[in-house]
Amino acid sequence: MKNNYKQLTEEAKSAKQFSHSPYSHFRVGAAVLTKSGKIFSGTNVENSSYSLTICAERTALFKAISEGEKKFSAIAISTDQKEFISPCGACRQVIMDLAGNIDVILSNNNGKTKSLKMKELLPHAFGEKYLKKVVE
Ligand code: THU
Repeated sequence: MKNNYKQLTEEAKSAKQFSHSPYSHFRVGAAVLTKSGKIFSGTNVENSSYSLTICAERTALFKAISEGEKKFSAIAISTDQKEFISPCGACRQVIMDLAGNIDVILSNNNGKTKSLKMKELLPHAFGEKYLKKVVE
């Protein structure tokens, strides 16, 4: 694993400490790496109106975007599970849309990691390019 992904994975793991998951008790931490080398982390924040919950991946990415970041190289995701947990469908769409075909580093509760590309997780993605054709 690339050295900077080691730190990214650590920050995803650390973000779980702030998970607000009183309903599912399923803690998720995520951290995105910008092309300029900055890391933004985030966790899942649940709501008593369940569907208003936001996943860790979107929290991390939205934090970065809302601080002016536009180019990304990777996202790391950490849970407390034995299996490698990959992003939900909604997060796949958001990550692909805002960050493109970046590296996705999953880590399990043993500290093992698995690396994928966004295109493997979301082939044939919908995106901005289709909307441009309609507007032109
Ligand atoms: N969750 C994430 O944070 N990321 C995912 O990719 C899957 C699900 C959260 C949402 C909810 O708080 C909990 O995990 C159980 O679904």
